[in-house]
Amino acid sequence: MADVEQLKKEAGIAACSFVKTGMKVGLGTGSTVKHTVIELGRMIAEEGLDIVGVPTSLATEKLAIEVGIPLVKLSSIDGLDIVIDGADEYDPKFQLIKGGGAALLREKIVVQESSAMVVVADDRKRVDVLGAFPLPIEITPFSSSATIRALGRLLDCRVNCRMAGDNAVVTDNGNLIADAHCGPTISNPEKMEAEILNIAGVVQVGLFNNMCDAVVLAGANGVETHINQVGRLA
Ligand code: 5RP
Repeated sequence: MADVEQLKKEAGIAACSFVKTGMKVGLGTGSTVKHTVIELGRMIAEEGLDIVGVPTSLATEKLAIEVGIPLVKLSSIDGLDIVIDGADEYDPKFQLIKGGGAALLREKIVVQESSAMVVVADDRKRVDVLGAFPLPIEITPFSSSATIRALGRLLDCRVNCRMAGDNAVVTDNGNLIADAHCGPTISNPEKMEAEILNIAGVVQVGLFNNMCDAVVLAGANGVETHINQVGRLA
């Protein structure tokens, strides 16, 4: 297994220590949190862990079913105890860029319903200033080129429609993803989030501000858990 894959696995598994019997758990999307989902399935089967999960994407739903995590609809319950998810970048204030896997809308809805958010990451995800990772923005298919032009004017950078070969990537919600190549310049992500959400045609933006309570980070020196001192797990 390549080093980075090993780090993802270590972080993903370590985060399971936040999950206790009786919890309702948001299950994130991506190549790091997939290890969390697999480990939770193992804990259910082998250790009697008793939880229900809410997946943030069709891909995670499929994996959760495969590993035996009982799933419920978010609409049928009154909130979640915790969500564990990956991130594309996080800054010193625990602000995040997410959406590299095109699941940002469902991920944000699930975070919004959760009492705490734990991010799993390898140490490449830690940055001083957000934005080297292209910022994902979910947009409506209707008039997508006009929305992309409006985003380019607002952000003053290249914005492109995410493609998979010759076809635009379509999200689980039937929308498209615009990626904004801001560069590492997002020093005020809260202002940027509000401005982007103000554009008609934007469904959601992958800036997750004031949502992350802890990061389980795997690096060369092992796994460290960083608690956001102004978060809900402090
Ligand atoms: C999906 C996401 C992912 O959590 C994010 O892209 C990190 O993924 P990975 O762990 O594969 O690097 O936001 O929309």
